[in-house]
Amino acid sequence: MVTVDISNALAERIGPEYGLSRDEITGLMGSHPASVITARKRGAERPAFTYSAEQTEGQLDAILAECSAFMGQFDRGLSDVIILGIGGSALGARALKAALLHPFDDMIPVPQRDHPRLHVLDNVDPAQTAALLDVLDPSTTGLIAISKAGGTAETVAGFAVARQWLSGAQRDWRKQSLIITNEPSSDGKTTLLWDLAGSEGVRRVGMPIPLGGRYSVLSPVGLVPAALVGMDVKALVAGAARMYARCESTDPWENPAYLLAAVCYLYMRRPNHPRNICVLMPYSSALSYMADWFVQLWAESLGKARNLRGDLVNAGQTPVPAVGATDQHSQLQLFQEGPHDKVILFIEVGDYGGDLEIPPALPGEPTYLAGKTLGQLLSAEKRGTEFALTDSQRPNVTIRVPAITADTVGELFFLFWMQTAITAELMEINAFDQPGVEASKNATRALMGAPGAENDELRRRMGVE
Ligand code: PA5
Repeated sequence: MVTVDISNALAERIGPEYGLSRDEITGLMGSHPASVITARKRGAERPAFTYSAEQTEGQLDAILAECSAFMGQFDRGLSDVIILGIGGSALGARALKAALLHPFDDMIPVPQRDHPRLHVLDNVDPAQTAALLDVLDPSTTGLIAISKAGGTAETVAGFAVARQWLSGAQRDWRKQSLIITNEPSSDGKTTLLWDLAGSEGVRRVGMPIPLGGRYSVLSPVGLVPAALVGMDVKALVAGAARMYARCESTDPWENPAYLLAAVCYLYMRRPNHPRNICVLMPYSSALSYMADWFVQLWAESLGKARNLRGDLVNAGQTPVPAVGATDQHSQLQLFQEGPHDKVILFIEVGDYGGDLEIPPALPGEPTYLAGKTLGQLLSAEKRGTEFALTDSQRPNVTIRVPAITADTVGELFFLFWMQTAITAELMEINAFDQPGVEASKNATRALMGAPGAENDELRRRMGVE
């Protein structure tokens, strides 16, 4: 079970100037209706992402069946899958890959593989795209285009280029592609990718409910890629469901998402030393992409110009990804001695699932390290860093993960969602829109020559004829 320990953010550890009192944590919950703390948006409505934790066996079996059917379309087998998506339509798959596959999965030779390699193309970098297509075999490569809006320029363009690559190799791109996008809305509006799948006879998986990309990793957006590479999607969802149950608690000390939210929120609004930076620092390479995924979640959900009443607030807390022990030799100097403007969230892993003993550095000359393991060293680095930060009155929180498994990864995704939703409720902002992202998408479309009066107006404002 994933747990949250906030003791190093409390005044009793780091002193009253920099620490929070237990009363502040308890009082914050007491002064807000339970609906805020459990992030039930006004009334009985729950945040849409809770659907992920409530998926039935039947829904998950349908995803697994869809994946088998897709794989069955490859006459020479499926060796590689390219995810074409961006933002929330890519970061979740990448975090899953790093957390749950072999750390060097792409290098496992074909005879020993029991699942395809997963490549996430989340940028329209021409060199990177060309290089990937250059090394893959078109006859055994599948394309998964993921876009909830279904018309995102990067995804549409990347998918078109990859389709052309398949066609150029005399492959039927329709059979080798799968599209994940929003189902038609109640007023019948469809996405470009939905229509493309319909008109070309490409397999498509609709998003059962509209979800912001950053809240979608445990929907078909992340579960289809996960299932294709053999991850236990039912365990991922079960982990999320377990965490959901714990985040329903209205006991402040029993609700892990509330604890994280309360710490981040209380520090943000402190009159002295407000902390507008939130560092997520897993002590695990496998979770480093979880930190990147968190960055999008936290930045896009909380970075808002206006609050729910429409007042200009320019709110947000800047997320910074770090990884232990690597960043001890990089960003830590700033965390330890720089401005008092950060809250640090560590992720500590109990069991790395394998360990290596450290031999003597020189034969016959044992050092203090010899005979210990790399896992012991990494754990000691985390404890040492935690101690040093606490000693310099730098608030830090530890999220403990017993081992990195599908269950605990599901717990982590849900924990961070709920932390974000509760923080947004406390800040009185909408965690579920992204008007800033939409503005840049619109401007890009206009610059690329999209027709229409709105695009003409945007081009005029950007000084482009
Ligand atoms: O979280 C979000 O909603 C966004 O970051 C999207 O994931 C991103 O913009 C891609 O959008 P789409 O999935 O519609 O292509």
